[in-house]
Amino acid sequence: MASIGVFYGSSTGNTEDAADRIAQAFGGGVASTNITATSADEILAHDLIIFGVSTWGTGDLQDDFEDFMTTLEEMDFSGKKVAVFGLGDQEGYPDTFVDAMGIVGKTARDRGATLIGSTATDGYTFDSSDAEENGSFIGLALDEENQSDLTQDRVVKWVAQLQGQI
Ligand SMILES: Cc1cc2nc3c(=O)[nH]c(=O)nc-3n(C[C@H](O)[C@H](O)[C@H](O)COP(=O)(O)O)c2cc1C
Repeated sequence: MASIGVFYGSSTGNTEDAADRIAQAFGGGVASTNITATSADEILAHDLIIFGVSTWGTGDLQDDFEDFMTTLEEMDFSGKKVAVFGLGDQEGYPDTFVDAMGIVGKTARDRGATLIGSTATDGYTFDSSDAEENGSFIGLALDEENQSDLTQDRVVKWVAQLQGQI
């Protein structure tokens, strides 16, 4: 079985909670780890690497992930699959919805990763997102402010999608 790791940056716990749900949805054997408590080598030990990050400021990375970017920008993801999820607020920040997910996913791809886990933008209302590419999100967008009731269903479906792509 492919080794899978979930790594997240979270300021108020929403991305941490989503990371735990995603790890659990794999049905065991997948850990979720704070990005502050890991290393490039630990991350690259996995075949499928899942990064979760919330967006702060106006389209900015969550603080801990911001600190991690210098490491991420030097990592070699050749031969690795990477999937990203992002927490954001589509009503409060419709012009920068889940931008940080876009930044992280595109950086990993620039560093050689094969990105998997893109999802439709149907069911979300926003004006602009750095995480949108060719009409889809490059990963999974979650919104605890406005659509927390949809989170678990979105997580379960996304994990099933990833399991079909590894
Ligand atoms: C000051 C502030 C700025 C924010 N900026 C954005 C933003 O630009 N885009 C977005 O989609 N969400 C934005 N959010 C919403 C957060 O991303 C959202 O609350 C998220 O669930 C936080 O996750 P965390 O607790 O894991 O950090 C912002 C929230 C706050 C309080």
